[in-house]
Amino acid sequence: MGEIIIKQGDITQEYVEVIVNAANTRLAGGGGVDGAIHKAAGSSVMDECKKIGGCKTGKAVITNAGNLNVKKIIHTPGPIWHGGVSREEELLRGCYRNSLALAIENGLKSIAFPSISTGIYGYPIDKASEIAVFEGMKVVDKFDKIIYVCFSSQDHKIYEETYEKLH
Ligand code: APR
Repeated sequence: MGEIIIKQGDITQEYVEVIVNAANTRLAGGGGVDGAIHKAAGSSVMDECKKIGGCKTGKAVITNAGNLNVKKIIHTPGPIWHGGVSREEELLRGCYRNSLALAIENGLKSIAFPSISTGIYGYPIDKASEIAVFEGMKVVDKFDKIIYVCFSSQDHKIYEETYEKLH
């Protein structure tokens, strides 16, 4: 029976088999968690991202993890928030579903997610956390653990509240 864990921290410091990156569709790197992951992982991950060439919003791709203490990195571009009228919910749900499916396909039993789309891309975190936790709960039996790593204490609180509500 897998476990859902919600914590505050830096995802590059997680001891799991795979971490998820909130990427962009060009897989070109950026700021936020994307910048932190590429910085910690080193150039082999960017080289593989360049080879893959890109990824559609809501889909996911998997690469090596470079210098990070994990086996793999899954890169998924979240939707940019446009007020909720541009299929944002469906696309964000796709990020979680496709990332979880890719982890299962690759035999990876522990996974850590950042709060996809809720930084630079502006997705309201209360809504985003419901999608994140709900999609994880559906497949948690296929994992040892699914971790949601919140960067701020405020985000952590919101995720905890969402988990209490859905649990
Ligand atoms: N560990 C965990 N979470 C982090 C870290 C970290 N080291 N650094 C930032 N975060 C958090 C942010 O506080 C936010 O809650 O990750 C969440 C997602 O924010 P962003 O990184 O801005 O991601 P997103 O909103 O999906 O925007 C993606 O930003 O960096 C670019 O290339 C990326 O263009 C893409 C866009």
